[in-house]
Amino acid sequence: MITVRGRRIETLFGEAEIAGEIDRLAREIAATTTDDLLVVAVLKGSFVFAADLIRALHRAGVAPEVEFISLSSYGAGTEGGEVRVLRDVETDVAGRTVLMIDDILESGRTIRYARDLMRSRGALRVEIAVLLDKHMRRKADIEADYVGFACPDRFVVGYGMDVGHAFRELPFVGEVVEAS
Ligand code: IMP
Ligand code: MG
Repeated sequence: MITVRGRRIETLFGEAEIAGEIDRLAREIAATTTDDLLVVAVLKGSFVFAADLIRALHRAGVAPEVEFISLSSYGAGTEGGEVRVLRDVETDVAGRTVLMIDDILESGRTIRYARDLMRSRGALRVEIAVLLDKHMRRKADIEADYVGFACPDRFVVGYGMDVGHAFRELPFVGEVVEAS
């Protein structure tokens, strides 16, 4: 338990645990991927995970190209939720093997939208890697190909993830437990 910005944060997944899991994920990805891998990190929440995963991919012998896409997931948790592209990838994905990287798979609407977008542009194969899977929250018919941890049904912060733009800098995944 630590206190940041006057809020008490309980650790759910610690630094060493995350690092070990990312190395395992990278080896799993390396075992099945082609030479020509295009990683697409879904901003903002995935930026820390993506930064660690691409370096673990390097250690596992994979040399990916790296791109970013920023999606608004406003209302994505509700029935009428829609997804919009705020900032697009800058490369042609046609014929490429794409690995989408996201922080959390929750309803699945955001990553399904991104996957379908890459497919509509002619991507050869689209795979999905997420650090956390909140399976109990799924609404869209989609699963990740690579999952770091099953996530409890709680709002988590840190390791790139925020609540109200705070706590992205924490090196671990935690939960805000109470005001101080
Ligand atoms: P969904 O799968 O479309 O419902 O949306 C997943 C996105 O919602 C993730 O990429 C995160 O950006 C965000 N999200 C979901 N749960 C959490 C959480 O517990 N903490 C921080 N962001 C979350
Ligand atoms: Mg996100």
